[in-house]
Amino acid sequence: MDLNGKKILLGVTGGIAAYKSCELLRLLQKKGAQVRVAMTEAATRFVAPLTFASLSKCPVYLKDGAVEARPFQHIDFPRWADLYLVVPCTANAIGKFAYGLADDPVSLCFMSCTCPRLLAPAMNVAMYNSPAVQRNLQTLRSFENTYVLESPAGELACGEVGSGRLMEPAEIVSFIERLDERRKTKDERREMVEGGSLPLVGTSSPTTPSSGGHPRNAPAAPLASDSLPEQDPSLPGHGRTVLITAGRTEEAIDPVRYISNRSSGKTAVALASVFLANGYSVEVVAGPMEAEFPGGAAVHRVRSACEMHRAVMERLSGADVLVHCAAVADYRPKDPAESKIKDSRSQLVLELVPNPNILRDSVAAKKPNQVVVGFALETDHFAEHAQEKLHKSGADALLLNAPVAKDSGFGFDNVNYALVTPGEKVPEMQMGSKVELSETIVDFVNRKLEERHG
Ligand SMILES: Cc1cc2nc3c(=O)[nH]c(=O)nc-3n(C[C@H](O)[C@H](O)[C@H](O)COP(=O)(O)O)c2cc1C
Repeated sequence: MDLNGKKILLGVTGGIAAYKSCELLRLLQKKGAQVRVAMTEAATRFVAPLTFASLSKCPVYLKDGAVEARPFQHIDFPRWADLYLVVPCTANAIGKFAYGLADDPVSLCFMSCTCPRLLAPAMNVAMYNSPAVQRNLQTLRSFENTYVLESPAGELACGEVGSGRLMEPAEIVSFIERLDERRKTKDERREMVEGGSLPLVGTSSPTTPSSGGHPRNAPAAPLASDSLPEQDPSLPGHGRTVLITAGRTEEAIDPVRYISNRSSGKTAVALASVFLANGYSVEVVAGPMEAEFPGGAAVHRVRSACEMHRAVMERLSGADVLVHCAAVADYRPKDPAESKIKDSRSQLVLELVPNPNILRDSVAAKKPNQVVVGFALETDHFAEHAQEKLHKSGADALLLNAPVAKDSGFGFDNVNYALVTPGEKVPEMQMGSKVELSETIVDFVNRKLEERHG
């Protein structure tokens, strides 16, 4: 959906992430959209309506708002809108929408709007995983014109770690910009399901993307944990397995200390979600990491580079695609101490030896039809270093990424990246979300497999 000139109604409910709706509102305006705001009473305890009124330059629709405005807002606002966003969407609001309750501005607008509706749930992980919330989300996914965004895993405002975070405002905007494409696939799939040409997969299949219209890369965001798109024969990854390496490695110095790096594993989680949404069976060999994988991925845990090397080589032959996303330590201490090294206050020299090169060894052992994608994290001479690594490794492609820009790279949702392929000029690096980066890789892999298998 091109946001320029679009009318967006933003519903804000009472979650800790309500402050992020202000940023979302500004991003939408920057894209040329007009925004109006409706708030629940609970939301007004997190962000003052005056903030939204000032930013949107329009009175906010509130339960106890101006009497003269109230008689019209619950109908006028939704009728005015081209798109209704509920960001953040609380567990409470999700329950109301699913059961048809409409006793506050946000749920009233949900009920009376006929335009597409996009919900961004945000809550504590236990709430998010509760059977009631999951069932209600499932119900909402089956509603006409309704899209439920992913709530990525990570550190939550309450201090716990797990699923339930609000999708970043920039990612929500990019989701909206691709909404027409998603609506087409959703409609096509529904037609195919209703026409009997496509079996229902789980209860969320109306939102499960289809390649019926031959999109190469099915979007990842609406994937529910209990939907099984890999069973959909029309998806590009149907019957195929991808093996992804993820996270970082820890190289022991002694029983309590190690050498490692700052990889959070978020890119691998985004990759797993996009591959799952494209119908692949996903296997992961994961080192230590904070981000959590979606339920559909089979995860094998390792700690050191040598363990990861062994686990990958054991599983290599069963995969059609390998994506080496893990941040593997290049070196490890030669002789890790068996007991904790004492502090002697004198200089300590650690002798390091090179770790096995998992990318090169898997390219050397691969079958001709397997597709291998590596990752190159560089901090300078990007193109030169990436081309050299691609050449030396013999991989089909290398995802060059550079964590040097502000608020990007390790632990962040955005990253500066380019996909480098043999014999082609290194493209300009672009800043995008880790989901977009993953879509670039999956699109490349789908094309490569199509070329190799016809
Ligand atoms: C400090 C605080 C933070 C909260 N954060 C969330 C949250 O992130 N997500 C959520 O679903 N509920 C959260 N709640 C609970 C909701 O505010 C509560 O369920 C409220 O009734 C929601 O009302 P609404 O859906 O009408 O906005 C929070 C409550 C408090 C006190």
